[in-house]
Amino acid sequence: MSSDQQKQRAAEAAVEYVADGCVLGVGTGSTVNHFIAALVRRRVPIAGAVSSSEASARLLREARINVVELNSSGDLDLYIDGADEATRHLKLIKGGGAALTREKIVAAASRRFICIADQSKLVDVLGRFPLPVEVIPMARSYVARQLVKLGGQPVLREGVITDNGNQILDVHNLSILDPAATEAAINQIVGVVCNGIFARRGADLLLLGTDTGVEVLKP
Ligand code: A5P
Repeated sequence: MSSDQQKQRAAEAAVEYVADGCVLGVGTGSTVNHFIAALVRRRVPIAGAVSSSEASARLLREARINVVELNSSGDLDLYIDGADEATRHLKLIKGGGAALTREKIVAAASRRFICIADQSKLVDVLGRFPLPVEVIPMARSYVARQLVKLGGQPVLREGVITDNGNQILDVHNLSILDPAATEAAINQIVGVVCNGIFARRGADLLLLGTDTGVEVLKP
């Protein structure tokens, strides 16, 4: 079974957790695209969705789902999103789609965060996937030098401007043995908007699509 089919499995399983009439937090990426398609196919009657990206907001609007601003929704019961890497403790790396800052905001504002992913995303230690860091453009070189001091090798993601008008540094070769500490250390660098480690607010449940079904992991 392909990783895309595994993503679809996890996405289908996540639909079961969506309550009728809720305002749902919706993330970004190919797994979430499967999730949006499943929501529509199964005609789940949600009141609306808060989206973590312009890309997902477009898809939701195309599906005639009411897209709501987080500023007017208040806290959400549930946020569904993918990940680039996940540990069994449900600490994540996200941001491969450059939406990490809005994803972290919606996750923070949600009582429950269900992560959906294919089996390849499960790792013992975070950091094989280059860690995305969103930076204010004028601070890019300064931030890159500080990231080198932390042991990483930052590479500018060419041609990418985030929905917030910023740039992304992908940091290679970081061994993230203490995700919460590394998340905090990188956030301390002036000019960093957000980094893609989701440890302080990790997922509450991981639905992992595999060849045989959907594995449900709790922290
Ligand atoms: C978007 O910025 C990311 O955090 C995505 O959640 C992550 O890249 C997962 O993407 P896929 O679902 O496409 O694998």
